[in-house]
Amino acid sequence: MGSLTYFDFLAKFGVGGAHPGGILLTQDILSKEKINDQSVILDAGCGTGQTAAYLYQQYRASVIGLEINPIMVEKAKDRFEKLQFPISLIKGSIEEIPFADHTFDFILSESVLAFVNKPKALKEFYRVLKKGGRLIANEMTINRPINQLEAAEIMNFYSVDSLLLEEDWRLLLQEAGFHNIEIKAYNLPLSHGNQTPEFNFSKDFEPELFHVLNEHGNIVIKYQDVLSYRVLTVSK
Ligand SMILES: C[S@@+](CC[C@H](N)C(=O)[O-])C[C@H]1O[C@@H](n2cnc3c(N)ncnc32)[C@H](O)[C@@H]1O
Repeated sequence: MGSLTYFDFLAKFGVGGAHPGGILLTQDILSKEKINDQSVILDAGCGTGQTAAYLYQQYRASVIGLEINPIMVEKAKDRFEKLQFPISLIKGSIEEIPFADHTFDFILSESVLAFVNKPKALKEFYRVLKKGGRLIANEMTINRPINQLEAAEIMNFYSVDSLLLEEDWRLLLQEAGFHNIEIKAYNLPLSHGNQTPEFNFSKDFEPELFHVLNEHGNIVIKYQDVLSYRVLTVSK
């Protein structure tokens, strides 16, 4: 697949709701939180901005999207402009969040944390959350330990530095200082897919990206009993 990555595929295909369960699971999770028009929310790694737009539309919250990929930033910007939603968009990394301490009531990380330096990003999430603020994450999780060869194949495809079990997430969240740690499994393998796909294709995309898509399909099928995700909700 050359140097093209899974994220190149997501960006050029403009995949919205690029996390397990898609926007429907997002809506369900958010409905359990006390979000209102006074809430200040960071959508960390917002992708094309589907969830950020929903947060404004549904709650009239103050929403800020933070995203590292320039193509994603453009597509999120287009979305917010078309909808005329006053959502701020910042190009930057969740490993170094360009905001002051105690800024946000909520941080959302929908399939982003798993792909970065996790302790570093969690430290940043903790820093920029207000006291009592909530982190809501939907992240890749393995259901049981796997052997090195299998782990290497998955880690190589997603360019991740580790694959975490539920208890690994719990430990990391504790170490970052969070409490009220709840970890929920939805019992759907990644191969179940996103029931509400949305695309915003770039005009020019490399045909090799279809190989990445294909390879992704192969990975989720091959590891369907082990490669899954958890919804992590915690408080500062
Ligand atoms: C699997 S996608 C999920 C996008 C979005 N949260 C969603 O659910 O549709 C992961 C996103 O995280 C972004 N990302 C990866 N590393 C990042 C970082 N260090 N800081 C900010 N965004 C990052 C990628 O560019 C990509 O848009």
